[in-house]
Amino acid sequence: MIGKRILLIVGGGIAAYKACELVRLIRRQGAEVTCVLTEGGAHFVTAMTLAALSENPVHTTLWDLRNEVEMGHIQLSRQADLVVVCPATADLMARMAAGIADDLATTLLLATDKPVLAVPAMNVRMWQHPATVRNIATLRDHGVAVLDPDEGVMACGEYGPGRLPEPEAVMVAISDALTTAHPQPLEKPLAGRHILITAGPTHEPIDPVRYIANRSSGKQGFAIAAAAARAGAKVTLVAGPVTLSTPHGVTRIDVETARQMAAAIDAALPADVAIMVAAVADWRSADQAQQKIKKDGSGTVPPLRLVENPDILADLCKSAHRPPLVIGFAAETNDVLAHAQAKLARKGADWIVANDVATHQMGGEINALHIVSAAGVESLPEMPKDAAAAVLVQRIADALA
Ligand code: C5P
Repeated sequence: MIGKRILLIVGGGIAAYKACELVRLIRRQGAEVTCVLTEGGAHFVTAMTLAALSENPVHTTLWDLRNEVEMGHIQLSRQADLVVVCPATADLMARMAAGIADDLATTLLLATDKPVLAVPAMNVRMWQHPATVRNIATLRDHGVAVLDPDEGVMACGEYGPGRLPEPEAVMVAISDALTTAHPQPLEKPLAGRHILITAGPTHEPIDPVRYIANRSSGKQGFAIAAAAARAGAKVTLVAGPVTLSTPHGVTRIDVETARQMAAAIDAALPADVAIMVAAVADWRSADQAQQKIKKDGSGTVPPLRLVENPDILADLCKSAHRPPLVIGFAAETNDVLAHAQAKLARKGADWIVANDVATHQMGGEINALHIVSAAGVESLPEMPKDAAAAVLVQRIADALA
């Protein structure tokens, strides 16, 4: 989805709040979103919210003369790769089916020459009404991809089909619609390969409420897992404590500590490639109190004794089940390449992918990676983590070819 442009029309239903999350997910995949908010939609979410999340102006009216000069509605409807209507209300779909163009959203939908995906959400009776059934059939007949709603409890308390699918499911439909509209070479360079990836931080408990951690967000590792799955690999992602959703087609194993991560890696072998992106805590507390350590008011500070954690990467490189290609990561604040070169030898990895966390702080959206191997160094320009992941996966595919 990298570089694709999505025009997202947000209709007036309670499910409109899920469109906000959808904007975030689309952008996380490297695509750009421009939002159109209907009058009804604006009763549920604000243009400000969508503008902030999409980092693009939000269009709300057909009668905005300034925009009509700068960017006519015809142009707006055609500069996208895909038009997504989410949530698509019964009324909006009725007007789409009838070819009515009485507001900005319906005018764009009538004027567009791009594929349209509608994601309906409405009350169960409205969804099952013969008028809606007929309108959906008409839209599908016109080539609009209409996603079937989920079944469940509705905001109005009734039960049945009509719920907006979760944003992750809408993302899969968007990605499918883009692929159908712009067929990519169906090349799956990593088909048949098992790729094992670690991501995120580890948490090393001190007592039941405190732990040692670091600032890793897991974004780069998750992006690599997503890119590897798209390239056809079977992907096992061993994730430390992060708040990211599992990429499509990836098997995820959640762990908390370095030792749990090491055990999960052992259990997931064999693999063709291991990519150890996780920022594993180097040390853990030697003692883990079973109860919360209390401050007793005397000013006495409890000793925090540290012991070294297993080095998962180094151990994997020495193991009998060492994958043919082992890639480590190095987050450094200084002398990035020198440290990466040293790490390559010390850990026994085939490649070390280094990044400067002084210039690109951990947890950010952008990375500039250096792929360090015996063959030399390839320094990639600064780019979103999804794009960096795609390049790295391409290099892996080339190395295995
Ligand atoms: O030694 P350092 O933490 O800088 O090395 C980073 C690389 O080593 C990363 O690939 C990380 O996943 C891996 N690592 C590990 N186990 C540790 C520490 C780091 O696998 N205990």
